[in-house]
Amino acid sequence: MTGKLITFEGIDGCGKTTLAKAVYTELSNRLGKEIIFTKEPGGTPLGQSLRTILQTQKSIVCDLAEYLLFAADRAQHFVQTIMPTLEQGGWVLADRLADSSLAYQGYGRGLSTEQISATNAWAMQGREPDLTIYVRIDVETAFARIAKRNETLTSFEQEKRAFWQRVIAGYEAIFAQRTNVLVLDGNLTTQEQVAYVMKKLEQLQWLS
Ligand code: TYD
Repeated sequence: MTGKLITFEGIDGCGKTTLAKAVYTELSNRLGKEIIFTKEPGGTPLGQSLRTILQTQKSIVCDLAEYLLFAADRAQHFVQTIMPTLEQGGWVLADRLADSSLAYQGYGRGLSTEQISATNAWAMQGREPDLTIYVRIDVETAFARIAKRNETLTSFEQEKRAFWQRVIAGYEAIFAQRTNVLVLDGNLTTQEQVAYVMKKLEQLQWLS
């Protein structure tokens, strides 16, 4: 028996965390199975420590080390949280996963996407997402939302516009080659987005 792994992807400020939590609430009421909401980085105690390093220590972390810290977080996340849930037939909703590394460290920072793909697969024990929900948004809208939050910016959020353009182009390139991706307009309301997700799950006959 194996459950479903659903990932939520997009640039910072696209609204995927709000969406993922809303989908989690909706599915918790409808699905007669275990369902968990988790995130990268930070889905385990080790991951929480790595997340602090990754978001605040950029100046002393080279690009490859940065990626490998995300990969370490991912390996632990799969062993400790994701695989045990999937093996029991449960569903996992993940706020970011491997595609974030491909988009940010691969396309954004310029590391080899082949090396990242291979290492991601290793960290994930060869398990791929069953469905990815990509929230598409332009840089200006995302920046405006991040500014509105009034929180201290993470090292990623302090990156220049050109970096974000590369990350967006990366996401577009990655998902153009996949069939199990639902692309959502980040300008829609969360409720509208949830409705599209539920429609997709019904089409896939995962809710019966
Ligand atoms: P977080 O506060 O969780 O951002 P968000 O709420 O947008 O997910 O910080 C995670 C940051 O780490 C975010 O800027 C994306 C980045 N990231 C990578 O660069 N590579 C990765 O593999 C992952 C999982 C995240």
